Amino acid sequence: MQVLQNAISEFTNVFGEAPTAAGIAPGRVEVLGNHTDYNDGFILSAAIDRHIVIVGRAISGTTAHVYSGSFRTGETFEVASPAKNEKNFWLNYIQGVVAELNKKNIKTGAFEAYVTGDVPLGAGLSSSAALEVATLLFLKQLFGFEMDQIDVALTAQAAENKFVGVNCGILDQFSSAMGKKDHLIYLDCRDLKKYDHIPLGENAALVLANSMAKHALADGTYNRLREHCHSAARHFAGVLGSHVTHLRDVSVDEFDHNHHGLDQDTRPRAKHVITENQRVLDGVAGLKSGNLSVMGDCMLASHASSRDDFGNSCDELDMLVRCSIGIDGFYGCRLSGGGFGGCTVNLVQRDKAESFAAELADRYKAQTGIDADIYICKAVDGAQAKAL
Ligand code: GLA
Repeated sequence: MQVLQNAISEFTNVFGEAPTAAGIAPGRVEVLGNHTDYNDGFILSAAIDRHIVIVGRAISGTTAHVYSGSFRTGETFEVASPAKNEKNFWLNYIQGVVAELNKKNIKTGAFEAYVTGDVPLGAGLSSSAALEVATLLFLKQLFGFEMDQIDVALTAQAAENKFVGVNCGILDQFSSAMGKKDHLIYLDCRDLKKYDHIPLGENAALVLANSMAKHALADGTYNRLREHCHSAARHFAGVLGSHVTHLRDVSVDEFDHNHHGLDQDTRPRAKHVITENQRVLDGVAGLKSGNLSVMGDCMLASHASSRDDFGNSCDELDMLVRCSIGIDGFYGCRLSGGGFGGCTVNLVQRDKAESFAAELADRYKAQTGIDADIYICKAVDGAQAKAL
């Protein structure tokens, strides 16, 4: 893998020695299941062939020395007492992981590390989750502790929630840790043991289109949306009974009959999440029976629901969706991930993927003047640790 080779030679340039361990974690694309994860719902995603790589070696002392290839800058922190770094925010994903390991009494020593990758930053493809997962696996390799992949995902999520301060669900870290080549990941977020790998099939390709509108979730918007959902769940618990702990427990029919009493913030958010859970189930059924049109329709309906109800689309994403519709080989598309920018994910007939990508880029440029990065992606295996 080219990024790994680059990381190894760059580490040697910066630190003067060869690295002994690596953590390699893919970014992810959310195919269906938007803002359903923290509502205990369903998701459909894939780990993609873009990775964050961290390589390094153990050293004596108490201090970690980390160099970021993407930001061309180095930083240090005390492994026993990580403290939030406002200047070089990227370091917080690494520090958050060390802080979580400290809480679990898993002692890591001092280390030197070089981090790099080809997951585009701020594109909604979870470069930060990939950095957390890669860091955990790197440290696992370096210091020799045991941790299974689901625990890796949960510990990485805890780093994001507690140290970075974004109250994200499990989608990003789980997808990065648990991907499978040529398959999508279906997950019931209520019970992380209930997951499945579904073949994407020979006839389908996923094409990502970067709107180039920057996506940032660390500003409190995400946490606010999450709170709206939890407040809606409390309303339904009052009306339907205490078996409702999350919006996952409310059916579309129950929503239709019991949404009065929700306010303007919570009603559309609840509608989006509840209908989105159903779209994941419908889309998965379509995929399993080889009916890509059903899956594509669910994706388009998901985007409309994000745009009209949840309120996490933006002009650029809506334009990308409009541009995709009608191109030869197209089944469906939607915004992917948190929203407010980043990428759309398109389900496309595999032998039309190249021509689709070219036509979409032309149409988007003609409408907006923006050159979108378009990328035909492969579903890949999840994150791994490696001895070097
Ligand atoms: C971000 C979060 C995920 C998930 C998505 C929306 O990617 O990190 O946990 O909530 O948004 O589905």
